[in-house]
Amino acid sequence: MSILSNRLRRSHPTVDSITIEPMRRRDLRAIMPIEDAAYPTSWSRRIFETELDQVANGSRCYLTARDGRDIVGYAGLWHVIDPDGDQAHVTNIVVDEAHRRRGIATRLMLELARVARDRGCIAWTLEVRAGSTGAQELYRTFGFVPAGIRRRYYDNVEDALVMWCHDLGTDEYAARLDAIEHDLEEQYR
Ligand SMILES: CC(C)(COP(=O)(O)OP(=O)(O)OC[C@H]1O[C@@H](n2cnc3c(N)ncnc32)[C@H](O)[C@@H]1OP(=O)(O)O)[C@@H](O)C(=O)NCCC(=O)NCCS
Repeated sequence: MSILSNRLRRSHPTVDSITIEPMRRRDLRAIMPIEDAAYPTSWSRRIFETELDQVANGSRCYLTARDGRDIVGYAGLWHVIDPDGDQAHVTNIVVDEAHRRRGIATRLMLELARVARDRGCIAWTLEVRAGSTGAQELYRTFGFVPAGIRRRYYDNVEDALVMWCHDLGTDEYAARLDAIEHDLEEQYR
């Protein structure tokens, strides 16, 4: 698992690096308050534990983003075996509100993409709240395009937009990831 280290934005002058690391069960103590604040209906600790239990068999990958020792974000991936080509589903991605717009979700997505490619996934997908236009913008950067709507998917109220990116496994996509990382380094240098 690679570690991404980058200099961060001027508004956080005391912080000079974000590190991306595998999520551990003991991280859940710091993660749960971030998760609870992020969504009207959040994942329970039990859901995280069930997901983490499946990391060992290779079907899941969960990462944390740390600012120094503090966990400031996290993200997860589900590797779905498919005879037509394996897929990766982004299961969750959250950045602590106080640390948003610093490129942390972008760093997490970069690492998830590389993990998925390393495991042979050729496409990736996710669901996003129809009203989460900021998150949709982030996903567009990674080549995701809307592919459908799941009506009242969230709490039987808000629609989910289903987004797919079908060129994850290509050389062009590897170049896209390099370009995103390069832009991030320029922006937060
Ligand atoms: C969505 C989320 C993960 C983004 O995290 P982040 O670390 O702030 O994202 P980044 O800083 O990497 O943003 C990258 C780009 O995405 C877009 N973006 C992200 N948040 C945005 C917002 N609130 N409004 C508009 N654009 C946004 C921008 O294009 C941004 O680039 P810029 O800052 O140079 O303009 C974060 O807002 C979050 O945790 N939200 C609550 C949980 C959630 O909705 N998760 C998604 C579930 S599908």
